[in-house]
Amino acid sequence: MMALFDVMCAVFLLLGEVYAHQCKITDVKGYKKADCRKLQLKTIPSDISKDIDVLDLRDNDLSVLKNDSFENFYNLKELLVSNNNISRIETEVFYELQQLKVLDMSENNIERISDQFDQNMFQYSRNLYKLDIRRNMKDAKRNQSAYTYPGAALSLLVNLTFL
Ligand SMILES: *[C@@H]1O[C@H](CO)[C@@H](O)[C@H](O)[C@H]1NC(C)=O
Ligand SMILES: *[C@@H]1O[C@H](CO)[C@@H](O)[C@H](O)[C@H]1NC(C)=O
Ligand SMILES: *[C@@H]1O[C@H](CO)[C@@H](O)[C@H](O)[C@H]1NC(C)=O
Ligand SMILES: *[C@@H]1O[C@H](CO)[C@@H](O)[C@H](O)[C@H]1NC(C)=O
Repeated sequence: MMALFDVMCAVFLLLGEVYAHQCKITDVKGYKKADCRKLQLKTIPSDISKDIDVLDLRDNDLSVLKNDSFENFYNLKELLVSNNNISRIETEVFYELQQLKVLDMSENNIERISDQFDQNMFQYSRNLYKLDIRRNMKDAKRNQSAYTYPGAALSLLVNLTFL
């Protein structure tokens, strides 16, 4: 009886291990990628190694990008959050992502996008050259005048080539 109990404990521990690391981590010649697609995530998993280069959070249920959401991801070059339900972005969320080159926020629910894009939002992300904010227009369909181009926030990005 005791042995069976032990075995069951071991099985649960094992399952716990597996489910605690849902993101698939790959490392191709030192370029580390966390593939966290389609995991119904509502928050950024806290157990992802902070030195990754790519964080792929597409097709989840994120609703807000907080000031500290990407804290300590100093190495991040590509951040993909397309097809979530993001409606709010806090001003400092990208401050620590000074290496960031690619940011895909398409297919979300970002309302009043020009208000939310604070003019300082990308002040430390000067390497950003690809920014995708397409299909965030759910709000604009209701109110055309509410959708204006977030020019001030982007004027700092001299190398931005794709929008
Ligand atoms: C996020 O940072 C901005 C800028 O410092 C600040 O105004 C805002 O209150 C912060 N938001 C939260 C929820 O702490
Ligand atoms: C998306 O977020 C809104 C609030 O901003 C919420 O009312 C809605 O239920 C969310 N949709 C999904 C599919 O999670
Ligand atoms: C913009 O790109 C040029 C040419 O690749 C590079 O020399 C320059 O440092 C870049 N500027 C910034 C702010 O990243
Ligand atoms: C449309 O957006 C503008 C600017 O944000 C606002 O002043 C106006 O009240 C909105 N109209 C409606 C019908 O929501």
